[in-house]
Parts: sequence; structure tokens; C-alpha cells
Amino acid sequence: MMRIFIALVPFILSLNANLNAAEDQSTVLITGSNRNIGFEFVKQFANKGWRVIATTRSIDSADELIEFSKENNNVIIEQLDITNDEHLRNLKKKYNDDVIDVLLNNAAYTPRYLSSFRGIDGVDHEATRKSFEVNTIGTMKVIQAFISNVEESNNGKIINLSTKAASFEERPEIPMMYSYAMSKAAMNSMVKTLSFETAEKNIIVIAISPGTVNTTLGMGLMGAIDIDESVSKMMVVIENLTMDANGLFLDYEDGRVIGW
Ligand SMILES: NC(=O)c1ccc[n+]([C@@H]2O[C@H](COP(=O)([O-])OP(=O)(O)OC[C@H]3O[C@@H](n4cnc5c(N)ncnc54)[C@H](OP(=O)(O)O)[C@@H]3O)[C@@H](O)[C@H]2O)c1
Repeated sequence: MMRIFIALVPFILSLNANLNAAEDQSTVLITGSNRNIGFEFVKQFANKGWRVIATTRSIDSADELIEFSKENNNVIIEQLDITNDEHLRNLKKKYNDDVIDVLLNNAAYTPRYLSSFRGIDGVDHEATRKSFEVNTIGTMKVIQAFISNVEESNNGKIINLSTKAASFEERPEIPMMYSYAMSKAAMNSMVKTLSFETAEKNIIVIAISPGTVNTTLGMGLMGAIDIDESVSKMMVVIENLTMDANGLFLDYEDGRVIGW
């Protein structure tokens, strides 16, 4: 009997070490992770050793993410359309008992649709409705589903990708992106309101502008930066957040406060 126990000691010790590693590992849940800024967040968090729950609306269009997860076993891919209540229910059920340290709301309906560059006469109602459904209500639903998981963290953060196009003070002074800007301004309002609750829950909630980034959305715009620069700088801002930042709209570059 004793001999069996001694033989098993290395195994028992290694099991214990693995459990400790898993307990120490921070978890981030990222929405819209299959491409551009969301995918870069997956790579950077994974490279830092985080456990990454990388959600994507459609697994079929997530080839790069799937490839990356094959080489990084700390990345778990899950399907999530943030407007789909059944997806949200299923995911919540699966991760009900998990601590989420960072909830990263990246997914958005971004202005690739034609009417985003039209004046008021050309604003498309369907695109406007969809912008609110995804960018405002969808983001809020993700928070409603997972805020209790973030509350379990000692250092919980809810990060919401916003845009200067939604800022009354810093928006470009040109009449475009009506639907997108309105939906993100409404999301910002949700962030501000939520901050009065998170203050009581020891969670930091912020909106953050990633800058104008060289995704298709930012492509060709003057001063657009590369995706890895935007995300690397946001990583620093996110890492250094303190409770003082709760309820603020911050810039990717140096974490300065952007006027709502
Ligand atoms: N790029 C910029 O210059 C810029 C500037 C300011 C703010 N932002 C913000 O930064 C974030 C990322 O921007 P990006 O340029 O990387 O955007 P993107 O290339 O348009 O990617 C958007 C992501 O959101 C996903 N998505 C769309 N609808 C969804 C839904 N209903 N449920 C779940 N996922 C959904 C998309 O999935 P599919 O691939 O399935 O469509 C995609 O993964 C967005 O919040 C955007 O508003 C970007």
C-alpha cells in the first residue's frame, strides 16, 4: 500500500500544482473575438497567460481564432451573438460558477453600411435599429448576464469599447455615422449609470476609445493606427485601472479622460 502511495506522490503533487495554476489564472471574456480588435485582445491576453473565453457570433467565420486556440490551450471558443437570448442563457449556464476578472464588450455593429456616410435624409432606419440592438442593448445584455461573475473577482473590470464619434466634446465635426454614434452614446450613458452600482460592488466599469484603427472601419482615415498598437495601449490602460476610473470614458493612448 505504502509503495503505491509513494509511486503516486509525483502525480499527486503535479495535480496540486496544476490546480493552483488554474486557481491563480485570471479570466477574460471577450465578445466579437473572431477578427480585428477583438481577435488582437484574445492574442494579447492569451500571451500574458490569461484564460480567455473568446466568443464569436459565428464559429464558421472564426478560422484564425480556431487556429490560434489550437496552439494556445488557455483560449476557449464559445458561440455568442450578443443579441441572442438563448446564446446568452446557455453561456451563462456553462460559466455560472466561474469568476470573470475582465468582461470585455468589444462586439459591435460598426459603420460599414452605406447609410453611415449619408446626411440625415439618408439615415437608414433598419441600420439604426440594428445599431441600438447590438451596440446598446446587446452590450447591456452581456453585462446583465455576467456581472455576477465579475463581482466574484477581487479585481473585476467591465470594459466597453466606445468611440469618439459618440463624444459630444470630441467627435469629428462632420455630419455622419448617425446610427453608430447614437447607439454608442446610449451605451456610454448605460456605462455611466451602471458605475453607480459597480461602485458598491467593487467593480470598475469604463468606456474606452480604441482610437481610429486600421480595421476596415478605420481604413484610409488620416492618422489611423495599427490594431496591435491600439490594443497594446488599451491593455496598459486596462491593467492600471483603479476605482477612481469607475464610470469614465478613457482614451486608449494614455488613459486620459474623454468628455462624454
Ligand atoms: N476600428 C476602429 O477604428 C474603431 C474606432 C472606434 C471604436 N471602435 C470599436 O471597437 C470595437 C471593435 O472594432 P473593430 O473595428 O474591430 O470592429 P469589426 O471589425 O467590425 O468587428 C466587430 C466584431 O463584432 C462582432 N459582432 C457584430 N455583431 C455582433 C453580434 N450581434 N453579436 C456578437 N458579435 C457581433 C463581429 O462579428 P462578425 O465577424 O460575425 O460580424 C466582429 O467580430 C467595436 O466596438 C467598435 O465600435 C473601433
